[in-house]
Amino acid sequence: MDRISKAIKKARQANPARPAHNSRVEPAVRGRTLEIKRIPVDPQVLRENRIIIDGVNDAHSHAYKVLRTRVWQQMRTRGWNTLGVTSANSGEGKSLTAINLAIGLSKMGVAQSIILVDLDMRRPSLHKYFGIWQEAGISDYLHGVVDFNEVLVTPEPCEITLLPGNMAISNSSEIISSSRMQRLLKEIAANFSSRIVLFDLPPMLQTDDVMAFAPNVDAMLFIIEEGKSSEDEITKAVELLRDVDVEILGTVLNKSEDVFQGEGYY
Ligand SMILES: Nc1ncnc2c1ncn2[C@@H]1O[C@H](COP(=O)(O)OP(=O)(O)OP(=O)(O)O)[C@@H](O)[C@H]1O
Ligand SMILES: [Mg+2]
Repeated sequence: MDRISKAIKKARQANPARPAHNSRVEPAVRGRTLEIKRIPVDPQVLRENRIIIDGVNDAHSHAYKVLRTRVWQQMRTRGWNTLGVTSANSGEGKSLTAINLAIGLSKMGVAQSIILVDLDMRRPSLHKYFGIWQEAGISDYLHGVVDFNEVLVTPEPCEITLLPGNMAISNSSEIISSSRMQRLLKEIAANFSSRIVLFDLPPMLQTDDVMAFAPNVDAMLFIIEEGKSSEDEITKAVELLRDVDVEILGTVLNKSEDVFQGEGYY
């Protein structure tokens, strides 16, 4: 049995059936007031990192608006609230898409908390995009070293709740299918009654992490960098997602020149 098949088997054993979307999740923590620290981030750093925060009306910002509206409509219609963001290979734009999608969703004026979780634990990057560093990262929570609320941060002026990583870890596959991960999902559900949770995931063809985590999300958003991954690689990645029975909400053709020619990208 190859590495990927083993991961699929393990994921199925850990999550024999994905819970019904409207099923009740037992709160992990009751009666606790959640305090989320707010860290001001430098708007210039955000702009340099291609994070869209201002009311600019260029092709980039328009593309992300179309994306967030389509994602939101799909999630609302299907009753979904958790979305993984992945791709076949590294560097295709998963993290930046997840960030701009989260920020776009937070600006829609719907009364939902937008939570963005860095689950690329071998190469966490969301904190770098925001130019922040905190002692308590998501892997510290998953190793049982810190509490849930210690990891949460709102990177002002972005009105999202971020669960950033800090140090890279090598045992991410085990951590991702651990009971502590299930506890994290319960804590998120218990503390944010109306929510959209985006998980920034690693590339699919380099680790088993996405396969191990896939049963925990309602759907995946699949990023393709124009001209980067081969057709075979994309097909393999999509088939792997089908093997674990996860819905694919949509595909983003990223870094496409077509966006500037008004031909759409989604
Ligand atoms: N639409 C885009 N236009 C221009 N640059 C982009 C776009 N999307 C991503 N990039 C740039 O491409 C690089 C990789 O992006 P990103 O970190 O989002 O990729 P990733 O898929 O998360 O990578 P990894 O697999 O290493 O985590 C970054 O420098 C990012 O700024
Ligand atoms: Mg990334």
